Amino acid sequence: MALLPILHYPDPRLHKVATKVRVVDDRIRTLVRDMAETMYAAPGIGLAASQVDVHERVLIIDISDARDQLQTFINPEIVEASGECETEEGCLSVPGVYDVVRRAERVTVRALDLKGEPFTLDADGLLAVCIQHEIDHLDGKVFVDYLSRLKQQRIAARMKKQQRAAM
Ligand code: NI
Repeated sequence: MALLPILHYPDPRLHKVATKVRVVDDRIRTLVRDMAETMYAAPGIGLAASQVDVHERVLIIDISDARDQLQTFINPEIVEASGECETEEGCLSVPGVYDVVRRAERVTVRALDLKGEPFTLDADGLLAVCIQHEIDHLDGKVFVDYLSRLKQQRIAARMKKQQRAAM
């Protein structure tokens, strides 16, 4: 297992659109294991492969308190969405920044599991928000893209300052 470096906003690589996984093989399963280790260490509740500079459609989520309910979604697609909710979101790629984003309240997602088997999941609440947030990453979108231009500029400036300080 390995901890993977997480890209930080406004890194342009966060805006790449990820491609579909063609075969769910050991390479993908190793990626998921490494992503899980990285997410738990951060700690975070979700991580998309795009955030570790792998531009393939893989994401993981664990919203359990015990941190033992890892969910893996390969080639996820939202096939149904309904309702509306506003949630304060954060992101491992934008450390220290939280803001409110409006999303669908319920989603039905179709994806492949670690064996390459398709499954369908109905989600609501935090899980639904998290799925939408992570799929956005695969589409090259970070949650700050939903905020005002002014807020985006402020966040980018703050991130750059933090990155300089960390060097
Ligand atoms: Ni994120």
